[in-house]
Amino acid sequence: MKKHLLSCLAAALFIAGCATTKTTTSSANQEQHRPQLHFTPPANWMNDPNGMVFYKGEYHLFYQHNPGGTTWGPMHWGHAISKDMLHWEHLPIALYPDELGTIFSGSAVVDVNNTSGLGTTENPPMVAIFTYHNEKLEKAGRNDYQTQGLAYSLDNGRTWKKYEQNPVLKNPGIRDYRDPKVSWNDKTQQWVMTLAVLDHIEFYSSPNLKEWKKLSEFGKSYGGHGGVWECPDLFPLTVNGQQKWVLLVSINPGGPNGGSATQYFVGDFNGQSFTSDNPPQTTLWVDHGKDNYAGVTWSNIPASDGRRLFLGWMSNWQYANEVPTVAWRSAMTLPRELTLRQTKEGLRLLSQPVKELQKLRTKAISLKAQEVQGTLDLSSRYKLNLPLLELDLNLDVSQAQEITLKFSNTKGEQLNLGYSVKQEELFIDRTQAGKIAFKDNFPGRHVAPIKLENGKLRLHLILDFTSVEVFANGGQKVMTEIFFPNENFTQVELVTDGVTKLQDSKAYILQPAF
Ligand code: FRU
Repeated sequence: MKKHLLSCLAAALFIAGCATTKTTTSSANQEQHRPQLHFTPPANWMNDPNGMVFYKGEYHLFYQHNPGGTTWGPMHWGHAISKDMLHWEHLPIALYPDELGTIFSGSAVVDVNNTSGLGTTENPPMVAIFTYHNEKLEKAGRNDYQTQGLAYSLDNGRTWKKYEQNPVLKNPGIRDYRDPKVSWNDKTQQWVMTLAVLDHIEFYSSPNLKEWKKLSEFGKSYGGHGGVWECPDLFPLTVNGQQKWVLLVSINPGGPNGGSATQYFVGDFNGQSFTSDNPPQTTLWVDHGKDNYAGVTWSNIPASDGRRLFLGWMSNWQYANEVPTVAWRSAMTLPRELTLRQTKEGLRLLSQPVKELQKLRTKAISLKAQEVQGTLDLSSRYKLNLPLLELDLNLDVSQAQEITLKFSNTKGEQLNLGYSVKQEELFIDRTQAGKIAFKDNFPGRHVAPIKLENGKLRLHLILDFTSVEVFANGGQKVMTEIFFPNENFTQVELVTDGVTKLQDSKAYILQPAF
């Protein structure tokens, strides 16, 4: 902790003390529980990723941030930039609260044609659209305390000005009216705002980002409704030469394993309204683990790249304010690429870690093809370095009942990740993974249903000190979970009940990003 804490001591008093700290690969972080691949704030509280936009070779990441403490509080937009979504440079806070409210979640775009008139075509503005949350109005018992505001930057996101005529979208009297995600619609040549409104999504359009008109609503009777709808995203993806639209909607609570999670819909958007391909009662999840929330995708990724790149907040509102980290709270997920795939059930969203992650591999180790019965200690057999590790295992579990990857330390704490053949489900069990008592809904065995073909299971996973992300069968099912062992995990064993065939599998030693 020591090193980073010292450099951030000032943060307790004044965040700018470490706001411009450049994170480098040489200064591996020694702080307990701090990941070495995943983005974390230098100090204090973080939740949702915001304003993710790519401009002039830089991925911008803004985030919900309370610079005054390690729990949720008055929201600002923290800011960091990266050239590869893995190595981040922390920049000063971009947006501060003002008389209209604190700064809740939202998005950013590059207004390439200067439709807003806030820049020039030679120097187009970067425009952020976010939710103002006015606590005074809330306390006064009013319902219209969330409005949408605009800010812009003419220097690549380094400094920001609020638009003088904020808010750009007033509240019609609905308490949950937030998290605008803005994108340019080629068909209508208008901006589209996708907004979360209590239990549904509303779409608005604008020629200039400043004046908005309501287009349509979606979702009151579709998908999961166990909690409030938040942080939507709407984007096209091409599958089999056809353009389809994906609508992401975070929901809290009501996730598949409790608390917060992100659902998605696949369908069409005609520039005015969204229609779902699936029947209303279908609920699809971006990630079945408990720790991937409020995720959205980057705007303005160049067509020459063409990927749809996603990042989520790696926590859950059930316990986010209580997790046992000291100087900061929360990390983001690893950046992921989203694609659509045709399955028997219909089109489904696949998530994979971005290819940039491969640059952090320092060594690839091929695991011998073999039949495993009982326990195979992968870490000592293949000299694997934990707790930073990537595994890509191809397993045949047709003669097994259950397989488990057991990550453990010398204190006997363990995280179990595996597949139950009988239940046809992937699971992560963190009940014995170290610190769990901080919140009763933190420990648990969490599951994701997945049916195998001929017993074939591919488990691609990334372990980073205090989190694991597993992408099963090419990203068809994903689980992301955090945990807090009292001592780092140093061992990983493959434990099988029955016979498991290990084929064409690899382990990668990774270098820290920080
Ligand atoms: C989602 C969320 C958003 C809101 C923000 C406040 O996690 O509740 O709906 O804008 O967090 O920090």
